[in-house]
Amino acid sequence: MDNRKFEEASNVIIKWVSEYLSTVEKYPVKSQVKHHGIFKQLPDNAPSQPEDFKHIFDDFQNIIMPGITHWQSPNFFAYFPANSSVPSLLAEMLTSALGAQCMKWETSPSAAELEEKVMIWLRDMIGLPKDFTGVIQDTASTSTLASIITAREYISEYKINKEGFSGNEKYRVYCSTETHSSVEKAVKIAGIGRDNLVKIPVDENFAMLTGKLEEAIKSDIEKGYKPLCVVAALGTTGTTAIDPLKEISALKNKYNFWLHVDAAHLGTALLLPEYRWMIEGIEEVDSFVFNPHKWMFTNFDCSAYFVKDKNALLNTFEIIPEYLKTRSDNVANNYCDWGIPLGRRFRALKLWFVIRSFGVEGLKQKVRYHLKLAKDLYEKISLDNDFEILAPLNANVVCFRYKPGNINDENTLNKLNENLMHTLNNSGKIYLTHTKLNGKFTLRMVIAQTNVEERNVNEAWNLIKQYSEEI
Ligand SMILES: Cc1ncc(COP(=O)(O)O)c(C=O)c1O
Repeated sequence: MDNRKFEEASNVIIKWVSEYLSTVEKYPVKSQVKHHGIFKQLPDNAPSQPEDFKHIFDDFQNIIMPGITHWQSPNFFAYFPANSSVPSLLAEMLTSALGAQCMKWETSPSAAELEEKVMIWLRDMIGLPKDFTGVIQDTASTSTLASIITAREYISEYKINKEGFSGNEKYRVYCSTETHSSVEKAVKIAGIGRDNLVKIPVDENFAMLTGKLEEAIKSDIEKGYKPLCVVAALGTTGTTAIDPLKEISALKNKYNFWLHVDAAHLGTALLLPEYRWMIEGIEEVDSFVFNPHKWMFTNFDCSAYFVKDKNALLNTFEIIPEYLKTRSDNVANNYCDWGIPLGRRFRALKLWFVIRSFGVEGLKQKVRYHLKLAKDLYEKISLDNDFEILAPLNANVVCFRYKPGNINDENTLNKLNENLMHTLNNSGKIYLTHTKLNGKFTLRMVIAQTNVEERNVNEAWNLIKQYSEEI
């Protein structure tokens, strides 16, 4: 493709993107295709000859688009969002154009230095202590894996990295029963063993019971185990429950474990002073993750990982083979040594564009707007006799179910709500997902999409009520 053809093709794409973003609501939010509906339309073999842009782009529109779920639709209330925004999208275009692989300072000094700077901004924006250092990872799962491997090395005095497991280690990792599955995955990958992940019961607000945590640690120590790591969740996936960090931190000095905080979604709320109470006890925390790619309007993927002792991280991951040696190794941040992958995308650019384009005040304003929309919805649902709220509203996730007065059987209610959810999602008008709380099938509505407005939430609620009467 020569320059002229590139310009023609990119003009077509820019026009399409602009149109897409302004009309995204016209698409079914959740893709309506059946399994392998896309696969079957694709040729069995790769083309042997070059194809022209028009042909490829036509296929994108006709074959690929129907199989897309529209995460950028303001009617997307499912999971946690993977938000985009125009500034982030523009930065991603530049990142793709540069195509830089930013593993070491020398492979793109701007990428390393911008990352160093925006992570300082971000740390200060969310009120983390000044002795925390940040690095961008792809996802919270990777950040948590990095944390658990670092904990393993820190507590074993870097022995496992060197000698491997001897077979005599008896380590335990603790998190609540509501904590995200990425912790269990990390425990498996780090070789700790799933049986050594102890899931601590939660209180009526789905937050970890610190008393039960201490009991479990004490009993494990008596049996010869060493507490390796505790993961505190600030904003669980099911309900945004907030574990009592201050109480958990107080146990750290007594039992000497690594303390990791998973604030993947709710970390963004720390932009607001009224949410800073969540991080009381942060001085004792060893590592902390939150995802700007969830609620901070930055394209997936972008996970902000902060550590108190950056040397522990480097001692765990740093490897400098001959072919990667550079003259700046002793002075510069080589972020490939701050985590698992060697190759790294230039993710700091989109974060820089987002923070500058919104301004910190602009970000706070949007987050507060989402919180208000969630509160309004929560109040409406609370007042409706045919619906039941199933978890306290901590931020922007409303957990509820349909419970008409004449039905009390739990199985029937579970089936009814599952059916309601599928009917809503099959309509293509909104998309929401579920969890189970105390055995109850729970509908979750997450009010966090970049462009969601009061109108979207009201329409969603009306639709939920309408369909609940029809099923
Ligand atoms: C609380 C929590 N932690 C971790 C994750 C994993 O996030 P990622 O997709 O960035 O790995 C999620 C995903 O939704 C989450 O809700």
